[in-house]
Amino acid sequence: MRMIGHHIYDRFLCPALDKACSQEPVMEQRARLVPQAEGVVLEPGIGTGLNLSLFDPGKVKTVIGIDPSETFLHVARERAQDAPVPVELTQGTAERLPLEDNSVDTVLLTYTGCTIPALASALAEFRRVLKPSGRLLLCEHGRAPELLVRGMQTVLNPFWKLFAGGCNLNRDIARELEKAGFSIEHMENFYLMPRPKFATWHYFGAARPA
Ligand SMILES: C[S@@+](CC[C@H](N)C(=O)[O-])C[C@H]1O[C@@H](n2cnc3c(N)ncnc32)[C@H](O)[C@@H]1O
Repeated sequence: MRMIGHHIYDRFLCPALDKACSQEPVMEQRARLVPQAEGVVLEPGIGTGLNLSLFDPGKVKTVIGIDPSETFLHVARERAQDAPVPVELTQGTAERLPLEDNSVDTVLLTYTGCTIPALASALAEFRRVLKPSGRLLLCEHGRAPELLVRGMQTVLNPFWKLFAGGCNLNRDIARELEKAGFSIEHMENFYLMPRPKFATWHYFGAARPA
C-alpha cells in the first residue's frame, strides 16, 4: 500500500519537479558543473536525468545513475538514449550504494542533498565508493546566511518537505560535507534567483575525500 502511495505521489511530483529543475538559471548552473565530471561518474538521485546531455564524452567513461523512484527513472531512461556518454540506471538509494569501494572518479550531486533522508549515511557512502583521487561535484540549495531567511526556512520546512518530495530547505550542505570527512576544494554561495529567497541560496563547488 505504501509502495502504491509513493508511486501515485511521484506521478504527480515528477512533471512539476522536472519543470522546476529545468528552468533556465538552473540549467545554466548544470552547464557549468556537469562538464567537469570525469571517468566513472556516480549520479545519486539522478531523477529525470536533466544532466545527461551535458556530460563531456571526451572525459566521461560511464555514468551510473541511482534513484529510488521508478517514475523518475522512466524519464531518465528516455533521456539516456540521447546522452553523449554510456549510462547505467539502477533503482536504489544513496544511503546504500550497490558499488565497490574506490570505484568511482566523480560523484555528481545536483539538487539531491536536500532530499536524501539520511544525508550523513549517503555522504559516508560517497566517500567509500570514491577513489582517493576522486571528486564530489555539487550544485545544491540550502541554509541561507541571513537570519530572516533562515527563520522562514525553519518555519516552512515541514510543509515544503511534504509537497516537494522530501526536499529540505535548511540543510547546511558545506557543513554536512565537512562533518562527513570531505575537504572543500572550492565553494560558491549565491542566490540563484531574487525570489523566493528561502529556496534559492546555492552551494556550488567541489570537494575531495579528506
Ligand atoms: C529534486 S530531485 C533532483 C533530481 C536530479 N538530481 C536533478 O538534478 O534534477 C531529488 C531526487 O532525489 C531522489 N531521492 C530521494 N531520496 C533519495 C535517496 N535516499 N537516495 C537517492 N536519491 C534520492 C528523488 O527520487 C529525486 O529524483
